[in-house]
Formats: sequence, C-alpha cells, structure tokens
Amino acid sequence: MDNRPIGFFDSGLGGLTCIPYLTDALPQERIVYFGDTARTPYGSKAVSTIRAFSFEISDFLIENDVKMIVIACNTVSSVCIEELRKRHPKTPVLGIIDPAARATADICGPANRIGVIGTKATIRSNAYRDKILNRNKDLDIAQLACPALVPLIEEGIVEHEIMDLSIQYYLDQFISYNGIDTLVLGCTHYPLIRRNIQKLYPSLRIVDPSRELLQSIRETLTQESLFAESARAEHTFYASDLSESFMNMIRRIFESTALNIVFKTVDPDALRRGREGGRNEN
Ligand code: DGL
Repeated sequence: MDNRPIGFFDSGLGGLTCIPYLTDALPQERIVYFGDTARTPYGSKAVSTIRAFSFEISDFLIENDVKMIVIACNTVSSVCIEELRKRHPKTPVLGIIDPAARATADICGPANRIGVIGTKATIRSNAYRDKILNRNKDLDIAQLACPALVPLIEEGIVEHEIMDLSIQYYLDQFISYNGIDTLVLGCTHYPLIRRNIQKLYPSLRIVDPSRELLQSIRETLTQESLFAESARAEHTFYASDLSESFMNMIRRIFESTALNIVFKTVDPDALRRGREGGRNEN
C-alpha cells in the first residue's frame, strides 16, 4: 500500500484526458499533474528540447514525492521514455504508447487499415508503427503528423468550424487515400476533438490511448503493491502558465465531486535551474 500521489505530466492540458479514467476506476488515488502550458506545444520542438523539458518535470514530480510517473504525452513517450526510466530508477515510469499500441494490435487484423495521427515528433519516431507491428507484423499502418491541432485545442477552439476545417485539412485525404477504418489518436490532446472527428467520419473506429493507459497504471500498481488504501484528500495541478482553459477543464472534470483541487504555477526557469543544479536524482 502506498498513499503517495501518482504523478502525471504533459506539455499542456492534453494529459488531463487520462485523468477521468483513473479517478473513475481508482477513486482512492491522489494525483499530482504538471502541464507545461508555457512551453507547449512539444511536438514540433527538437528532441533535445523535449528531453530537457521532460527531465525537469520528472525531477519536479519526484521532488513532490510521487510513487509513479505517468507520461501522459505521446510525444515524450516516443522520444525519451527509456532515458526517464534511467533517470528515476526507483520509480516506475509509464508511457502511453505501449498500452495504446497493444490495444490497437489486439482489435485489428490484416483486413484493417490503421491510421495513427500525432505530433511531428511522435510520427517521426515511428514508435506507434514499430510497437503495433511488434505485436502483429501483418497489420497495415499509415501515419500522419497534424501539428496545427494542439495549439487550437490549447486555445479552447474546439466547437468551431476552424477546428472542423483543420481536421479535414489533415484527415480527408489521409483517410480516403489509405482507406483508414481505425484511427489511433496518438496525442493526448486529440480525445478533446474526438467528437469532431467522429462527426466528420462517422464510420471510423477510434482508439483513445488516454483510456488504454489505465490498464498499464493498474498493472503497475498491482505488481509493485502501490495501491492507495485511504481516501484521497486533494489533487494538485501545476502548470508553467495557469491558463483559464487549463483550469476550466480541470474544474469540469471534478465538478460533481467535493474534492479539494489545488492549482499552482511553477516558473519554467525554476524547473531549469533545478535540472542544471542536478537535484532530484533518485
Ligand atoms: N499531448 C501531447 C502528446 O500526446 C503533446 C502535444 C504537443 O505538445 O505537441 O503528444
């Protein structure tokens, strides 16, 4: 048993799409979340930058005494999960791509046409393609980076024709040319536009990695005997720039609960100084 919180992080509010699955299934668990809203998006940045930001945030989570780090970001999971595991050898570090690739391979066969969409860094890494094919080499996969979607989502521009046009800009040709019938939302921001995508392409089967992640969390909590036993007192949400859309989304997730939600800002310069000072190795 371990009553310490589970640490989540993402480049912004995308990783919040994983939270309701966790709180519904495991309501006793406490959460510390970090959204790097001041430096989002990550997906179009250099690998070295994404790695440096991820080191800073994972160090920060360890300093906040988390029992597990969940990378609620496909970009970070595809770029540097193994380095994060080496950096924090005593703490389980979970990525989002493994469970999503496993779920995709398990529901698909050679007759399916799988599409994976994500950030430039995620698609460039081929992490989804490789992991899905590792599980079943007979599957057919096409991939596409959709870099304009995350900034719109961070701005809260979702229920608007600009979003639908942007989705069509990327997906119309991709889906028809490749005959895609199963679409993996390979960025944790994309579940926030799932309804737009489903409305535009009603026959598409959608895989939501934010949902699949829960299974991995549960497995690790079981294997490492890390389940919390007492009721959670509060959840803490850090952001490098506390935007209204970030806070509103969290308020909506927890509106029907009486839980205490704490919001805090962390200056990215302070995170960087922490990394340069070499703190928090664990
Ligand atoms: N939500 C993230 C992901 O799953 C990152 C998006 C971004 O910052 O570009 O990839």
